[in-house]
Amino acid sequence: MIIAIDGPAASGKGTIAKRIAAHYGLAYLDTGTLYRAVARDTLARGGDPADAIEALKSAKALDPRTLGDPRLRKPGLGEAASLVAKHPEVRNELLAYQRSFARAKSGAVLDGRDIGTVICPEADVKLFVTATPEERARRRYIELKGGGIDLSEAEVLCDIRRRDERDKHRAAAPLRQAPDAHLLDTTNLDIDAAFRAAIDLIDAAMGRAGYAG
Ligand code: C5P
Repeated sequence: MIIAIDGPAASGKGTIAKRIAAHYGLAYLDTGTLYRAVARDTLARGGDPADAIEALKSAKALDPRTLGDPRLRKPGLGEAASLVAKHPEVRNELLAYQRSFARAKSGAVLDGRDIGTVICPEADVKLFVTATPEERARRRYIELKGGGIDLSEAEVLCDIRRRDERDKHRAAAPLRQAPDAHLLDTTNLDIDAAFRAAIDLIDAAMGRAGYAG
């Protein structure tokens, strides 16, 4: 079983995806870490993430063993990741790793921006998880504050809006809801309610698929 989960930054998709993977006993890949790692390695070499040649060099040399590095979640890297993610050659380089992960024998949950549209268009269930920019900024602000990072909520909202714009309007694999994805708006849901809503959608979709098949 492959479950594809897409959505904008701080929509709750990562937390929901992790819990879904645990619930069904599936492997989990946060594909944002791939772009963050490419950005990290490009910056570490003194390269510009907006430069396609520099970013591609990092994508080609990417060591998947470094994807667990907690420093990949730093807020500045999200911005740099969205710059490397604009380059079609970088996206193409990361495609095989994501597809082979998705096709692991036990099944997988992948979350990102283009899982249901490009990486796994054949996924058994697709969710598009979203929330208003203000609510996403509020959540990210609380999370960052808890981690000792001192940014104002207005700065976080500004970062979220800029990243949304870039992710939605880029030419290569823009962020959009696949036509067959189920929409899950988490604006008024806490994480437990959002997780339960996701499980209900998946169980209903799998039941329908079983009935149809
Ligand atoms: O999800 P996360 O915030 O870690 O992603 C960082 C950036 O990586 C996103 O803003 C987006 O530009 C890019 N990304 C992408 N496609 C994915 C996952 C992430 O373009 N599947």
